[in-house]
Amino acid sequence: MSQASNMKANFGCFIVIFVCVCYASAEDESVDCTKPPRFIPLHMCCPVPDLSTEELMEQCAEFAKPPPPPPIGRGGPAKFEHSHHHPPHMRGLHPHPCLIECIFNKTEVIGENGEPDVDKFSALLDTTVKDNEEMAAIMEEAFEECTEKASELKAKIAEKISKYPEFAEKMANHRMQAACSPFGAMLMTCVNMETFKNCPASVWNDSTECNTVRDFINECKRV
Ligand SMILES: *[C@@H]1O[C@H](CO)[C@@H](O)[C@H](O)[C@H]1NC(C)=O
Ligand SMILES: *[C@@H]1O[C@H](CO)[C@@H](O)[C@H](O)[C@H]1NC(C)=O
Repeated sequence: MSQASNMKANFGCFIVIFVCVCYASAEDESVDCTKPPRFIPLHMCCPVPDLSTEELMEQCAEFAKPPPPPPIGRGGPAKFEHSHHHPPHMRGLHPHPCLIECIFNKTEVIGENGEPDVDKFSALLDTTVKDNEEMAAIMEEAFEECTEKASELKAKIAEKISKYPEFAEKMANHRMQAACSPFGAMLMTCVNMETFKNCPASVWNDSTECNTVRDFINECKRV
């Protein structure tokens, strides 16, 4: 509640009563990075489109692991309806690594050499985000930026491995345990996050809560 009233104070800059409060907590200083705002699903603020088409979901069904089916109506229309309804985690920031990897494999967004391909991502956007060109452009830009970040990260890891051989061993062990590489999911998370930050005004949910969350994400770098 105090967050909400804080933001209201900011918006009410021109209201005389709050002038002092306003100057005291103007713009960036109003973001308290020690206090994360109440969690709200990010797609409620910015509906970043889901890139998994029904066809892809079918091709990757073995990795989708939907939540256990409800006890009633098994096999009936309820199940059919369910398959049209993406599980909430697909829309969130923690997608299943194997599902994402499968989708990126099938669409060749991540090539056989493991390298991301922006042209293939763009083609995927053409089929999934065709109703919003602005959103598609922002997502493509996000992909390019995230690909760059990923290659920087890879370079850092390579450097670390050359310095600390035991780190390489740890990584290899981890890879043995993990069914899929986290790379695809990390890339997708990054793309969703960058898109959220640059969400087109035409679809942005201009609510106090959403603005607070975006300010927090923009201003408070994770360490
Ligand atoms: C994706 O492709 C890579 C390389 O071809 C392969 O190693 C991996 O198992 C594939 N992942 C999925 C989930 O299909
Ligand atoms: C906008 O965000 C608020 C939360 O701040 C939420 O209650 C509301 O449902 C959202 N509106 C839409 C259209 O998603």
